[in-house]
Amino acid sequence: MEPTRPVTAASEAHSVHDPADALAELVGAGQLVPCLGGVERVAVELDQAASTQSHPVVADRVAEFLPWYSSVHRGAGFRSRRATAAYEAARRAMLSFAGRDEDGPDVAILCRNTTEAINHLAYRLRLDPSDVVVTTVVEHHANLLPWGRIAQRRYVECGTDGTFTTGDVIAALDAGHRKPALLAITGASNVSGWLPPITEIISAAHERGVPVLVDAAQLAPHRPLPTEADFLALSGHKFYAPFGSGALIGPRALFETGDPFLAGGGAVDLVGLDEVIWTAPPDREEAGSPNVVGAIALHAAIDALGAIGWDAVADHERALTGRLHRGLVAIDGVHLLGPAGARNGAGLPGAETLPVAAFTVDGMHHALVAARLSAEYGIAVRHGCFCAHPYVIRLLGMDEAAVDAYRTEVLAGDHRGIPGAVRASAGLGTSGNDIDSLISAVSELAAGTPPPVPYEQDPGTGDFFPVTDEPGWRNAAAELGAACSRG
Ligand code: ALA
Repeated sequence: MEPTRPVTAASEAHSVHDPADALAELVGAGQLVPCLGGVERVAVELDQAASTQSHPVVADRVAEFLPWYSSVHRGAGFRSRRATAAYEAARRAMLSFAGRDEDGPDVAILCRNTTEAINHLAYRLRLDPSDVVVTTVVEHHANLLPWGRIAQRRYVECGTDGTFTTGDVIAALDAGHRKPALLAITGASNVSGWLPPITEIISAAHERGVPVLVDAAQLAPHRPLPTEADFLALSGHKFYAPFGSGALIGPRALFETGDPFLAGGGAVDLVGLDEVIWTAPPDREEAGSPNVVGAIALHAAIDALGAIGWDAVADHERALTGRLHRGLVAIDGVHLLGPAGARNGAGLPGAETLPVAAFTVDGMHHALVAARLSAEYGIAVRHGCFCAHPYVIRLLGMDEAAVDAYRTEVLAGDHRGIPGAVRASAGLGTSGNDIDSLISAVSELAAGTPPPVPYEQDPGTGDFFPVTDEPGWRNAAAELGAACSRG
């Protein structure tokens, strides 16, 4: 088994943690980024819902492992045995992180990310094209598109506040004559940060004999995973382990028969030119050399989060969430989307959200707000539809006619008019000062502070770039292809 470094700092620190401070100093904290005018500023990373920087325990564990790097389940050398043990230890840690017994009926299949995990499950469920998958309009594309390829989808709609009730889910489960084959639902929205009442929803589905996949991409870094879910999908890059790994967790029995998602070495017991005998899961589902570095990173992130503790994570993030939402709604011309923005910024009673804010600024294109926050303030956010087009369209209150109006332009390769919002999202590495920096910058933009140089929009991406002769700025930015409005 991979020797592990103690993870002490955060657990010792959180008892005296000041919510104004970050809960963990992620790799790259304090990094300077170039801004207009030849100035460098400390990067303010408020795009944690897209990808988090590495936790230092993760980076250290990976660095310690690299001299021992070798094949997994494919070599007799000491390094290979050590790498194999570390990989399997990570799998056990993942099961335990998901509240599963390491020797119980569930299996953790290590894969690239949530998208791959859900595509994997969609393939393995062997649904009939007439089967129904109930899902919701709140999902990001990873939990919408795979189902459309293999089954009929029945959607749970949301209200103008971006939420639905357990009753709405029950109505969708009970609609029609055919019992749904699956409920595929998010544990937390990547756009509004809304946390659906997932335990209640899972229990309602189970009462009807419907298994549940929880897309835990956003939930995993912030809250414990729902132990009652039949299937879970998550990504390491969103929980401080950015080394290309994720997991699909589900009942081993499902994967014991039938063709695996990927065919290849490592997934077999015996192969002839016209014959294959697949091996048992999880190996059956992990053809090809696995990502052992990614698995070690996942394991280290699980340990790091465990050392901090969910209570400390939730306390820290609730403080950030309040600061973020109160700060934004107080700015004239800024509109917070979703439950946090409902009731004029007071939020919906009982509708808790993660430290995420999707917002618009009157009179300013979302892409311009994001570009100016980066180029003038060193603040990283995401803009556009956040890989959740149907949800964002609803949060913006757009109807079909409005969508039709820009569809033709998008088909012609012109993304300038694509609707969207700006999203700020926080995590362990975010401090109260980071939130204050955002609020202050957005206040200046919303008040009409003129830019130091003009900005130009790229029709192909919809992104804005400052027009400046400062060396390396505009061309470098364009070459980097920072097209974040796609998704
Ligand atoms: N990774 C996508 C996001 O930024 C879904 O939320």
